[in-house]
Amino acid sequence: MGHAAGGPKSALWISLLHGFLFLVADSGTESPHDITTMDISSRRFRAEFLQEWSGSPDAPYFDPSTPRNITGLVGHPVRLLCRVKNLQNRTVSWVRHRDIHLLTVGRYTYTSDQRFEAQHKPRSEEWALRIRSPQRRDSGQYECQISTTPPIGHAVYLNIVEPETSVSSGPELFIQAGSTINLTCTVRHTPEPPTSITWTHGDQIINFDSARGGISLVTEKGLKSTSRLLVQRARGADAGLYTCGPNNAPSASTRVHVLSGEHPAAMQQGCAKSTLDKTSSIVCCLIILYALTRTTFDNLQSGT
Ligand SMILES: *[C@@H]1O[C@H](CO)[C@@H](O)[C@H](O)[C@H]1NC(C)=O
Ligand SMILES: *[C@@H]1O[C@H](CO)[C@@H](O)[C@H](O)[C@H]1NC(C)=O
Ligand SMILES: *[C@@H]1O[C@H](CO)[C@@H](O)[C@H](O)[C@H]1NC(C)=O
Repeated sequence: MGHAAGGPKSALWISLLHGFLFLVADSGTESPHDITTMDISSRRFRAEFLQEWSGSPDAPYFDPSTPRNITGLVGHPVRLLCRVKNLQNRTVSWVRHRDIHLLTVGRYTYTSDQRFEAQHKPRSEEWALRIRSPQRRDSGQYECQISTTPPIGHAVYLNIVEPETSVSSGPELFIQAGSTINLTCTVRHTPEPPTSITWTHGDQIINFDSARGGISLVTEKGLKSTSRLLVQRARGADAGLYTCGPNNAPSASTRVHVLSGEHPAAMQQGCAKSTLDKTSSIVCCLIILYALTRTTFDNLQSGT
């Protein structure tokens, strides 16, 4: 060929350098315009890619406004969307990254998994992948691909979640007698806010107009619903298992220990009975140790 400065060799180096720059850019913040080129370079960088990308002004591209992170609920249909401009006679496919499984090709569903379905209206720019009954394991990266040479892809992250309930204090709560038991129950990822969130103490439903008095409940419903239970001036009888039960999500519990500071034996029993996690075991042991030391010290003092 006789090119002056190494010809094809330096062209390759420039391509490699471009690819490297795109890889670097990919780890930073993305401007919507660059999304397509970054996707290509981060996954399948090839030297010839620059030709198609810069060469043809009528090359197909992904609409940058297409969502890239979809959250769905277990068992509720979810759609991954791909909007392609300037497709011409190319084909759009959906691929699952986990196992490089081809799910759809054009308007056809390719996988044998009956839950997946290709959705496309004639002459529309939208090529959707619908999952009829998604499960947790369907979470992960999917890619919409255009059959250019080399193919270009648009990655979409699917996050499948299920209803979840938690109590702020964790599995155990230790409080001093006379102080306020303050428990917050949070319910997430339900198809609609729970119609009711019931609290029980042992097997008794907590009623804020019960004879006990000093009990209040504040419930807030929304994307994330919360119910706060306050029991004022805690006493021994208030100890035990508190359970928060939303009507449309699993329930969550916490065990409350009311410490009087005078009965280490009772506390020890309380600690041993309950199923403790590591942190609360340590806290429990420290409290017992403290109480025992205090008792021994008091006994010594009264002995002298
Ligand atoms: C997708 O969005 C969810 C919350 O909407 C977030 O927790 C998750 O980290 C996001 N994933 C990616 C890959 O951006
Ligand atoms: C698409 O059309 C171009 C001509 O416009 C042709 O060269 C190319 O082979 C076609 N590709 C497919 C996949 O049919
Ligand atoms: C209960 O605890 C929450 C934090 O978990 C706090 O914001 C709130 O003020 C507390 N309420 C009372 C009455 O102590």
